[in-house]
Amino acid sequence: MNKASHSVGHIGSALDWGWENLQFLRMRLRGLQDKEADLTKLLVELDGYRSLYESLTERPFQQASMFEVGYGARPLRLLALISMGLNARGIDLDAPMLQGSVHELLRILKTNGWQRFIKSTVRATVFDAHERHALDRALARRGARLRVQPDRFLVGDVSDVALTPASLDFIYSEDVFEHIPREALDRVCASLARALAPQGVAVISPSVFTGIGGGHLVEWYPHTLDRDIDRRSEPWEHLRQRRFAPDCFLNEMRLYEYQRLFERHFSVEAVHNLQAGLGRTFLTEDVREELDDYSVEELLGDKWRFVLRKKPEAQP
Ligand SMILES: C[S@@+](CC[C@H](N)C(=O)[O-])C[C@H]1O[C@@H](n2cnc3c(N)ncnc32)[C@H](O)[C@@H]1O
Repeated sequence: MNKASHSVGHIGSALDWGWENLQFLRMRLRGLQDKEADLTKLLVELDGYRSLYESLTERPFQQASMFEVGYGARPLRLLALISMGLNARGIDLDAPMLQGSVHELLRILKTNGWQRFIKSTVRATVFDAHERHALDRALARRGARLRVQPDRFLVGDVSDVALTPASLDFIYSEDVFEHIPREALDRVCASLARALAPQGVAVISPSVFTGIGGGHLVEWYPHTLDRDIDRRSEPWEHLRQRRFAPDCFLNEMRLYEYQRLFERHFSVEAVHNLQAGLGRTFLTEDVREELDDYSVEELLGDKWRFVLRKKPEAQP
């Protein structure tokens, strides 16, 4: 596929691109210290998938056929599920770096372009080995070992992939749907809904644009909010002055637009604001007044979770 990566955006100047990526690099370097705790948290998150799936379907998660939409450049969820013996695979627009080989890097250059190539080279050199070892240790505490199975990592656009009808018991996607163009999302949801087995569950968690982190500027990432750092942009800059662009494509969809999209294709079982209240200290009276087109709930938060089932009329 010769398509520009969606994980690099359309930042106007090289200076802005450099700035955003420098912030990102600093954030990742800081994250190195807490890596093991982060990965333990990730495994707990996967336990959450298990209990959600089992409570809704009364079927064992261990036997579910699962699919991740947008596993990302650090495909830790998919690596962990596969390592724990689950029948999981996924797709991403960008080719992953799984074995750290030159061949993989050249594929990334060819598939995703030079900006992603630079990011992947830095990531592979500085972070990947450390992170994979930490994942292996976290898995070992649960009696598993890290297993890399490159054939489970499809590379392509989820809007084009041919999925077998009713073949998937569990579909999940984290921080991806906000990067898919609006005009592709009906096709994506129709295809995922068709692929979902009659008892299946889909958990789709986008970062919604109106949230404090929804603009995807690194200095407003949720975990930076309690840090006293100098920021060059204002809170909710992306809904206000819009002086800075993130280093990724965003469809800018609001909560009600996701709700309508999912209702067209699925039964919506539950909707959760995963970080309700996030950013409250930045919502001063003046800012609130300026943003009075939005509800407080959609401003205070970042990631929302939609729990979806197959529509009754789509059941065989
Ligand atoms: C912000 S990353 C999230 C990655 C991962 N889910 C995580 O939580 O770390 C978004 C990912 O979605 C992928 N993506 C965006 N549009 C896509 C599409 N149409 N098909 C497949 N993957 C896509 C991007 O390539 C990127 O890796």
